[in-house]
Amino acid sequence: MNQDISGVRICFVIPTYNEALNINPLLRQLTELYRDPDVAFLIVDDESPDCTASLVRDFISKVDSRVHLLQGKRRGLGDAYVRGMTHAIDTLGADVIVQMDADFSHDPAVAGKLLDHIVGGADVAIGSRYVAGGSLDKRWHARRRLLSRWGNRLARWIGGLKGVSDCTAGFKAIRADKLREAKIESVRARGYVFQVELLHRLIRCGARVVEEPIHFRDRERGETKLGMLNMLEFFFNILWLRLRNHITFIKFSLTGVCGVFVNLGSFSLLLEFGLHKFIASPTAILASIVSNFLMNNYWTFGDRVMVGRKSVRGFKFIVVSLIALLVSYTVFVVLSMLFPKALPVLLQAAGIVPGALLNYYLNSRWTFREAPREG
Ligand code: GDD
Ligand code: MN
Repeated sequence: MNQDISGVRICFVIPTYNEALNINPLLRQLTELYRDPDVAFLIVDDESPDCTASLVRDFISKVDSRVHLLQGKRRGLGDAYVRGMTHAIDTLGADVIVQMDADFSHDPAVAGKLLDHIVGGADVAIGSRYVAGGSLDKRWHARRRLLSRWGNRLARWIGGLKGVSDCTAGFKAIRADKLREAKIESVRARGYVFQVELLHRLIRCGARVVEEPIHFRDRERGETKLGMLNMLEFFFNILWLRLRNHITFIKFSLTGVCGVFVNLGSFSLLLEFGLHKFIASPTAILASIVSNFLMNNYWTFGDRVMVGRKSVRGFKFIVVSLIALLVSYTVFVVLSMLFPKALPVLLQAAGIVPGALLNYYLNSRWTFREAPREG
């Protein structure tokens, strides 16, 4: 560490499962590198059958009492981190958390560089394998490399973490207040995908993220716990992150579905009442336009900060609606001429498609255009 960090309480949170071969050398190296009394080290062990926990207890009593042990049931890496970070912040009073693996994949000396970034104003400093200057152990076999690469790509594309090169990194320094703001205690991911979900939340809270290149060494002792189930969880969780990101789109689609029901429902009803189909058609289209407007205005885009005044928006909406109505109705009339024997409801449904597309395009680009975000 180059910069002064006195007064800042730092806590390393290190999950362990069967790390008996690594834990002593790791704790020795960490406690020697970071001698400040304000630095603590929390080992989160989940009943490792190889007695990792008792080695930690020995270390605490014989070598350094800045080391702490938190024990729990094994429910995955993410779960261990949530418990560990919460304990570090609430009980040990940490201002900054450093998360890292216990198997020497993460060089203890590099933690100091991550902390320098935090002192320099970052909220999250990632020890990154995929940023320029970072690297992976040559011994990582092709399958593992591929998995990691694609896991990262998925997280970036589907999960919407565009600005970050190493989204699954397990080596990070994070400001405690940001972790609180991101509500870590409610993170759902249990396995490795925890890293992605946490980062996702931090970025949504406006965290400033920097990446420090690291060399990721393969573990020398013990074995990895990454399994098939973790990969499945990874995939589904990333999809879920994306969906949550796009609630607006889902609401908009549901509104559209309701509109289709209103349109076709009232169309059938009007025919039932003996109205001519060329009159029933535009009336039904109009009814769906009104129901779409109400739902979109009060529900879908209810919390959007938009460009322009409400009256202007109302005017634009009417113009767009009339265009969409005209297109839908024209399609209906033309199809009715071409296929006079076809079921009118089917033709009315066919008319919805071009009308809805046009409606979506014009309304989202023009009527409900979002104001650009500040800063
Ligand atoms: N308490 C606890 N409970 N610790 C666990 C558990 C668990 O269920 N599962 C794993 N750990 C601990 C391990 O003992 C180790 O210290 C650390 O978490 C990482 O586990 P490894 O099994 O060594 O993970 P890895 O090397 O495959 O994965 C690393 O790289 C991934 C990205 O490629 C980690 O840094 C991951 O966090 C990272 O996503
Ligand atoms: Mn490892």
